[in-house]
Amino acid sequence: MLAYISPMKRNILLHPDPRLKKTADPVTDLTDDLRRLADDMLQTMYEAPGIGLAAPQVGILQRLIVLDCVKGESEKPRPLVMFNPEVIASSDETSVYEEGCLSIPDQFADVTRPAEVDVRWIDRDGREQTEHFTGLWATCAQHEIDHLDGKLFIDYLKPLKRQMITRKMVKLKRELARS
Ligand code: NI
Repeated sequence: MLAYISPMKRNILLHPDPRLKKTADPVTDLTDDLRRLADDMLQTMYEAPGIGLAAPQVGILQRLIVLDCVKGESEKPRPLVMFNPEVIASSDETSVYEEGCLSIPDQFADVTRPAEVDVRWIDRDGREQTEHFTGLWATCAQHEIDHLDGKLFIDYLKPLKRQMITRKMVKLKRELARS
């Protein structure tokens, strides 16, 4: 008999951390371990709570992201697991969202990105998917894919603002290490 192992909450790395600045490796073999990691990441994201999480944020340098931008308790959740996600087309039209990141808690800033994107990825069952995303989904997908290239939303901000946030994070991490 196979034991059912429920998804496990993983530890989220906090900025600044060298692992958040690295380029993640493509997934070449979709193993059960990677599916398990994806399930753990969804669990971790929902518990945080957040709307997206990338594998490097839990210390795994593989090209895997999870997201669910459905809002409101009454709406049906839509967990998406994306291996090797790629933006294959983006709109000229841009939109501005106040972004945050589970690796940079309590810090938010406006980021301008293409308003609509086509994303291609391999799903949890190993099938290739392509979807056109708009609104928050488009922003979230781009934010998470950035993580796979070692890019954080604060990298879009002016240096002064970025340094201010990083200083706050260094202080927070020092406090967390002490407690
Ligand atoms: Ni993030």
